[in-house]
Amino acid sequence: MSESTHTTNPFSAVQTPAVGVKIQHLSKSFGTVEVLKDVSFEVQPGEIFVLMGPSGSGKSVLLKHIVGLELPTSGQVLVDGKDAAAEETREQVRMALVFQAGALFNSLSVYDNLALYPREHRVGKESEIREKVMRALQILSLDNAAAKFPSELSGGMRKRVAIARALVMEPQLMLYDEPTSELDPVMSATIAEIIATLKEEYHVTSIVVSHDRDLTLAIGERVGILMGGKLLFLGNGAELRAPKDPKIADFLSPKIDVKNPRFRQLET
Ligand SMILES: Nc1ncnc2c1ncn2[C@@H]1O[C@H](COP(=O)(O)OP(=O)(O)O)[C@@H](O)[C@H]1O
Ligand SMILES: [Mg+2]
Repeated sequence: MSESTHTTNPFSAVQTPAVGVKIQHLSKSFGTVEVLKDVSFEVQPGEIFVLMGPSGSGKSVLLKHIVGLELPTSGQVLVDGKDAAAEETREQVRMALVFQAGALFNSLSVYDNLALYPREHRVGKESEIREKVMRALQILSLDNAAAKFPSELSGGMRKRVAIARALVMEPQLMLYDEPTSELDPVMSATIAEIIATLKEEYHVTSIVVSHDRDLTLAIGERVGILMGGKLLFLGNGAELRAPKDPKIADFLSPKIDVKNPRFRQLET
């Protein structure tokens, strides 16, 4: 190829080739508690993979391994073929984790929340950072929120700001930890559309942790379900609609018995 083409779109596919993720026999213990048990799956470049599972099943811990915030007890996590635990990988592959609670800085405006990482990582001049920040705000329909503070935003806006902040770093890989929890169905649908748009237009590989069956069926190209630290299901939407394993079926569509009220057995 000749000289690389300059593009004014800061989120163009040219700048963000998608990357794949391989989880290979990943086990993780905290002290004597084994939280992830021999988990293996692959996420293809540009794919939307949804990871489901009950609370405490190890979903957030698994995401943290992909961005190198946790190290495997055994097994391996590869991002774009490189060890996720190695510092060089995070220098070579741009990845962003959108935390469940958003993790916005309350003392900073929306604009400054978005500009914080690019400034720290000196990705360019202030004018270039401004272009990226404003573009990310525009993509998420937050143009008018730049000067606002997190406390002034609705839950849905805070989730969008958290996504916009990740987007500013032009990630090749986006990880979303329960992006629709605590949102009403319409806002959840909007977030699902945003995730799908980022994949379609910017070829971002996406791993979405969610309990939301509708969101999963709408955007998930493949789905994994963790239960008690084990991957008990791996398949596509059609397979998710008709799960063979009764444990998976009950997780996806629990029968609520109010005629004969009693608590279902709670797992410890
Ligand atoms: N840093 C940690 N130290 C000890 N235990 C942890 C740590 N992080 C998570 N855990 C435990 O690992 C289990 C899985 O947690 P998590 O991945 O957050 O679940 P979820 O599927 O709800 O995201 C939980 O029992 C949690 O208490
Ligand atoms: Mg979690």
